[in-house]
Amino acid sequence: MCIDLISSVSPSKTSFLSSFTLFAPSMAVVDLNPAYTTTDFTNSNLSYVSSSARLSHHRRLSFRHLPRSPTPAIRCSVTSDQIQAPVGVDAKDLKQKPECFGVFCLTYDLKAEDQTKSWKKMINVAVSGAAGMISNHLLFKLASGEVFGPDQPIALKLLGSERSFGALEGVAMELEDSLYPLLREVSIGIDPYEIFQDAEWALLIGAKPRGPGMERAGLLDINGQIFAEQGKALNAVASPNVKVMVVGNPCNTNALICLKNAPNIPAKNFHALTRLDENRAKCQLALKAGVFYDKVSNVTIWGNHSTTQVPDFLNAKIHGVPVPEVIRDRKWLEEEFTHVVQTRGGVLIKKWGRSSAASTAVSIVDAIRSLVTPTPEGDWFSTGVYTNGNPYGIAEDIVFSMPCRSNGDGDYEFVKDVIFDDYLRKKIKKSEDELLAEKKCVAHLTGEGIAVCDLPEDTMLPGEM
Ligand code: LMR
Repeated sequence: MCIDLISSVSPSKTSFLSSFTLFAPSMAVVDLNPAYTTTDFTNSNLSYVSSSARLSHHRRLSFRHLPRSPTPAIRCSVTSDQIQAPVGVDAKDLKQKPECFGVFCLTYDLKAEDQTKSWKKMINVAVSGAAGMISNHLLFKLASGEVFGPDQPIALKLLGSERSFGALEGVAMELEDSLYPLLREVSIGIDPYEIFQDAEWALLIGAKPRGPGMERAGLLDINGQIFAEQGKALNAVASPNVKVMVVGNPCNTNALICLKNAPNIPAKNFHALTRLDENRAKCQLALKAGVFYDKVSNVTIWGNHSTTQVPDFLNAKIHGVPVPEVIRDRKWLEEEFTHVVQTRGGVLIKKWGRSSAASTAVSIVDAIRSLVTPTPEGDWFSTGVYTNGNPYGIAEDIVFSMPCRSNGDGDYEFVKDVIFDDYLRKKIKKSEDELLAEKKCVAHLTGEGIAVCDLPEDTMLPGEM
């Protein structure tokens, strides 16, 4: 049965709550300021039109928004007693999904709709920190088909925290109101064991941002515990081949903690997001060479998403020509270019007053698309992945950004034909040492004994500058 809703929502009361900070994406300090709103909707009828109507038609649905429960859980804004069966459909056939939000609680049969006959099987995408700024950009891209393609229906499973639950409901409502044809299900909640159920992609954005006076070791511990817990939850309930993209900082070590706590999921399925750094490096090279950034290729970010990351200009190309042959200013490449890319996040925080959010979301899209579409011939992309089996001599058992290629099946392989010089080797070693030190710092979270935290002094996230 296919149901097309016609909806109109009439807000009766809007209450403003005082300012609060979300416990959410670590790449962004999420401050919903001055207020977020909770809105109650008055009830009227729920009406349906015939199943043959196309998804793009206007919909009208009046519903009563359920009052916020003291312990947030996944629940619907449409209650089963409010749902009337459309003409010709027996009410008993109109089932609700147990974990869902609002309009997405309705049961439908994708195959019954003309428009969806050529669609692929629906995929489950879980997003943590879903009420935060990065997610606010990302979710609508996911729902639109921009990421997984115009024939890929999607279920979004949104994980928030108790404090952010009202905002999470707001996000789900905006998703409802956007009428995305490909977005078939939305569920929200604060329990990773519920939200990660059957997830085929897990985009782990939520983490605590480093606060004033907080030691980096403290951040590693606090966020490490979140990612240990989420690793366990993924291990228990996600699809066994789930692909995990860790965005919350410090993302490399968080990814390591996550994968160590998820022994049933292949370690190579875990990624730490360094695509934003790659994009930043491409932009700087394009600026210097005076070309549009689509002419820049083969850029690798090596190492940690921190100020020791190494933007590799040696292997990068502009118009297919090695960068050092196009930009004949080695000093600029080694010093200014490298520094600008390494510290871009911090400069941006100074300008914005918060971490990057839109560009981070775009880079998550790029990172996923690089795994679900074949890599263009001769090119590659950077992603932070588990080092075991890498051909570059990088220490094993850490998560390190390296050059990869994909045939578009969600998997990847390391690129073989990269060159190194002494400068590049030395820089890579520094980032490697940093990650080995971070790893020792979280040994209690990876099941490797007692943590010993002796971090190099200049270990910083880009945002800590
Ligand atoms: C970025 O690179 O923009 C962020 O990771 C910065 C930060 O520390 O939040």
